Amino acid sequence: MYPLRRNRRLRLNESVRSLVRETIVTPNDFLVPLFVVEGKGIKDEIPSMPGYYRYSLDLLPAEIKELWSLGLKSVLLFVKVPEHLKDNKGTEASNPSGLMQRAIQTIKQTVPEMLVMTDVALDPYSIYGHDGIVENGQILNDPTVEALCAMALSHAHAGADFIAPSDMMDGRIISLREALEDNSFENVGIMAYSAKYASAFYGPFRDALDSAPVDAQNIPKDKKTYQMDCHNRLEALRETRMDIEEGADIVMVKPGLPYLDIVREVKNMSEVPVAVYQVSGEYAMLKAAAANGWLDHDAVMLEQVVSIKRAGADLIASYFAKEVAKLI
Ligand code: PBG
Repeated sequence: MYPLRRNRRLRLNESVRSLVRETIVTPNDFLVPLFVVEGKGIKDEIPSMPGYYRYSLDLLPAEIKELWSLGLKSVLLFVKVPEHLKDNKGTEASNPSGLMQRAIQTIKQTVPEMLVMTDVALDPYSIYGHDGIVENGQILNDPTVEALCAMALSHAHAGADFIAPSDMMDGRIISLREALEDNSFENVGIMAYSAKYASAFYGPFRDALDSAPVDAQNIPKDKKTYQMDCHNRLEALRETRMDIEEGADIVMVKPGLPYLDIVREVKNMSEVPVAVYQVSGEYAMLKAAAANGWLDHDAVMLEQVVSIKRAGADLIASYFAKEVAKLI
């Protein structure tokens, strides 16, 4: 009781504050999302993600070495697929010499210890920008899962350490686990996008990969028949529990900041590590506000990643990873 307890004693100066600090962010906490494109000498800024780039394979090694030197030891790969290679079934996704597969090899040749995680979903390969195969306007679950298994195996063959299914089809984790086991990839892990919401915060990412969902008439569509409804929380717990039961090594909540209540609940029920994806729209918001002089970029950036970790994230996929690693 006051004055026996004066809480401000533990805030008097930075020395005591750092002594009693509960949450510490380090470069070890981060996954770095990387966008890869075909071509040569390309380092292409994404218009809705200022300061973030798509790289061609020849420029990837320099970037990988820089990340490694900053203590960033994991990357999460996405590819921008040339239009003429897209179809409804995402056939190109399991091409053994496709862009993703070559990107994995390039990174492993550059820094073998760099942990390579790959996005497993059909959207960058789909003419409709959907994560699954489309038939009569419906997203087919089980045929999509089959395609995802072939895709994941080709990533494992190329040297991926973890596959990261972001598609939200039912039953894909058990199918992927079995496919990996049956093909002697027992050491390849699965990071499941377990509680992935149908979020408008993914807009800039879809610009980056030219993967916005449309229907057969090219009319914009959403992903609400497979990604989760933002009004729900129990659904997130159910999805996460099932993914853990099906063999996920790491589960994920996505987006980050607007869903920190879900992050805490998932953390409390999960005995596997919890990843949080601070998504492209979250990045774009801060960049825009900072460009207008409305927010202190670095201070807000650090506060955001600390908040994500404090909410329960064991690891954070973030476009700010490099900037954070340079600052701390
Ligand atoms: C694709 C995928 C998306 C993101 C990660 N993997 C987009 C989507 O589901 O439409 C979003 C990432 C971001 O916004 O940063 N399945």
